[in-house]
Amino acid sequence: MKGIILAGGLGTRLHPLTRITNKHLLPVYDKPMIFYPIEMLVKAGVTEIMVVTGGSNAGDFLRLLGNGKEFGLKRLHYGYQEGEGGIADALNTAREFVGKDKMVVVLGDNMIERTIKKAVDSFRKQKKGAKIITKEVNNPKEYGVVEFKDNKVVGIIEKPKNPPSNMAVIGIYFYPPDVFEIIEKLKPSKRGELEITDVNNAYIRKNQMTYSVLDGWWMDAGETKDALLEAGVLVKRDGANKE
Ligand code: G1P
Repeated sequence: MKGIILAGGLGTRLHPLTRITNKHLLPVYDKPMIFYPIEMLVKAGVTEIMVVTGGSNAGDFLRLLGNGKEFGLKRLHYGYQEGEGGIADALNTAREFVGKDKMVVVLGDNMIERTIKKAVDSFRKQKKGAKIITKEVNNPKEYGVVEFKDNKVVGIIEKPKNPPSNMAVIGIYFYPPDVFEIIEKLKPSKRGELEITDVNNAYIRKNQMTYSVLDGWWMDAGETKDALLEAGVLVKRDGANKE
């Protein structure tokens, strides 16, 4: 299985912190943010990893991470996203790297307390389709939110005004290689981006989506300055990506 970490974007919500650097290079307690998703994948047994970034600070990732030796990797792969086309567009950058493999896609600012090894192992065995991870939240309007019917996922609504549940879709997604055919057919959303939620809804419509519920805390550390601070406090208190 391949691992893809999406670490592009302008990080405008964090200005001025991100005026001269990429959001994923900012510190979360004692490490740059990008260290956590790499560690997350390695600890779950995924060691072929591509970091997709963009913008004018892309070279700093290479200087910071090199070949990924300090994570126990032989090499780390890099992709460059041109422009700001959204999460699904960034994923498209990894198409040749992924080839005919399955993949786990992580948004570079998503941080978790406990390892995703169980979800990775169960997706390795899954015969068809995609998988998402959900987590109960107090502020569902800020995320993609799952709509359930009889315990089955029937749809995901991106930043809903009237959330159908309190279960957010976290930024860790599992796809088979046909995800790139789905991305090819996507149309940009109102915010001008290819949305990962549209990709996920395509699998739900085909009845090819499984889900699990995350153990431990989850932070979208790049969402706001408060979230960034809170992520640091939680990591200091509990650590991250633990067994
Ligand atoms: C993105 C996804 C959203 C998901 C969130 C998790 O939102 O579009 O569905 O719940 O990541 O971090 P964004 O952070 O791009 O607003």
